[in-house]
Amino acid sequence: MTHSAISHPSSGLHQAEHLFKGPIAEEYAMLQAICPAAADMSRRVGQLVNTLPSPGNRSLRLLEIGCGTGITTLNLLARPDVWITSVDNAPTMLAQARHHLADYLTFQRLQLVENDALSYLAGQADASLDVVASAYTLHNFLEPYRNLVLAEIFRVLKPGGVFINGDRYALDDSLMHLHATQEEARHYFRTFIRLNRIDLLEHWIIHLFSDESPDHVMRLGTAMDTMAAIGFDPVEVHYRDGVNTLMSALK
Ligand SMILES: C[S@@+](CC[C@H](N)C(=O)[O-])C[C@H]1O[C@@H](n2cnc3c(N)ncnc32)[C@H](O)[C@@H]1O
Repeated sequence: MTHSAISHPSSGLHQAEHLFKGPIAEEYAMLQAICPAAADMSRRVGQLVNTLPSPGNRSLRLLEIGCGTGITTLNLLARPDVWITSVDNAPTMLAQARHHLADYLTFQRLQLVENDALSYLAGQADASLDVVASAYTLHNFLEPYRNLVLAEIFRVLKPGGVFINGDRYALDDSLMHLHATQEEARHYFRTFIRLNRIDLLEHWIIHLFSDESPDHVMRLGTAMDTMAAIGFDPVEVHYRDGVNTLMSALK
């Protein structure tokens, strides 16, 4: 394969993957055992959205990228004036979200869309959204695809709009990050052995390899520089505990 074929936008690195299928998706609730910080982060994302000023006598238009089973969506819905569209490309995850969020789906405050993030964003008008929010989704993206998504998020936000992301941002010190990842792998083994779920251990370890691969890994410093280069200002970290990071980026 030539270099130009690798870097061309039609190459695989610029496309969505389907990592959330099979046992990981079917038993996604297991995340609470292996990453208790995730539920806390969902709450923090909702809280930060709650602090944003009201857009006046209309609803706050928010796009959630990667709703999964709806854990973060539920926290976002705590704000009474928010109108949410949540996009996810995994049917197994969306089916659980439809179940968990059934009460909200009957009203116009929430719409769930099966699509990949970049395709959905490409169909949205410039400056049409107040907020884009996400939790633990962008770190799953291949970096070239993620950068295209970030540029699209900037395009669709209104001036003054904000991108809020609670996610796994790798430590910039690669040796410290390696040690953190080794501890994480150790924690997976201990947890799944205790739960007698060696079958799931295999899938989560393989998923961790994906997160940590050079094509995917989302380092905090690089991510903030990329967002600043796109035009977000300021890009701020509100909370960081290990890799678990809450950040906002203003258009
Ligand atoms: C780790 S889960 C997080 C789910 C949820 N945000 C939460 O806080 O629990 C990541 C979600 O992103 C979705 N996802 C991954 N890549 C995607 C893409 N390219 N487009 C849309 N959704 C994607 C997956 O299907 C999965 O449901």
